[in-house]
Amino acid sequence: MPDRNVEIELKLLIEAIYLKYSYDFRDYSRASLKRRVLLALKQMDCDSISALQRRILYDAQVFMDLLQYLTIPVSEMFRDPGYYRALREQVVPVLRTYPSLKIWIAGCSTGEEVYSMAILLQEEGLLERSLIYATDINPRSLEQARQGIFAIDHLRQYTVNYQQAGGKRSFSDYYTAAYDSAIMDKSLKEKVTFADHSLATDSVFSETQLISCRNVLIYFNKPLQDRAFGLFHESLCHRGFLGMGCKETVEFSSYAGLYEAFDKQERIFRKL
Ligand SMILES: C[S@@+](CC[C@H](N)C(=O)[O-])C[C@H]1O[C@@H](n2cnc3c(N)ncnc32)[C@H](O)[C@@H]1O
Repeated sequence: MPDRNVEIELKLLIEAIYLKYSYDFRDYSRASLKRRVLLALKQMDCDSISALQRRILYDAQVFMDLLQYLTIPVSEMFRDPGYYRALREQVVPVLRTYPSLKIWIAGCSTGEEVYSMAILLQEEGLLERSLIYATDINPRSLEQARQGIFAIDHLRQYTVNYQQAGGKRSFSDYYTAAYDSAIMDKSLKEKVTFADHSLATDSVFSETQLISCRNVLIYFNKPLQDRAFGLFHESLCHRGFLGMGCKETVEFSSYAGLYEAFDKQERIFRKL
């Protein structure tokens, strides 16, 4: 198919998704959306984007299947362990000074980041006074996150990450192994609210002291990144913390002047 036609069909597909399902991918990075749609085409047995568009319009389940490609539900416990070490060693001492804490994990996917954060807070004696908002746009990912069940074959890597992140106990204290799954300890999710929330279309819902939004904004174009930064700025309390993924930064956004780099290497910023 000529490239120009692919671009046109892609634009129409994104518009159709927005009109029919109110998921707004119009300001996502086009190159990466295109790669994912082309992959979905192959695996969903469609010979053109227009054919896929027709199928998603008339079958919500097919749209849900496509959403798995569009949202990249990939995560890891204690992903980039240095980030969690920096939270533990540098951010937690400040968080300790608050009588209660609200933490927002935006784009939490299947929950690995949420359980990692809950473990860290529990070990630092802060989970009791915390509320964690874990949000995403993918309902299947959110459901998996709520269940807190993970494939056992990832556990070896998660254990290494946990140790490198400065974990204080044995990682196996936090889950029960059952067949090929690890079921996370229920106490870890007692303080978590899992909710559908889009950085592209929704507004701020609470004041927070820490926001962790990692490996999400890389998929947005600049205006949409700015929209998300606007939400974070509005939500964060005075001197609140914003943690980002290793390829992400607030530095070149319109909000750059409103933050200082708290730990530049681990991409942790602090509201001025
Ligand atoms: C690659 S995952 C990152 C998961 C986790 N934060 C991490 O770093 O391991 C990206 C997540 O962003 C979510 N996402 C994409 N667009 C979003 C939006 N507009 N609002 C909220 N979450 C979004 C996706 O559904 C997906 O779960």
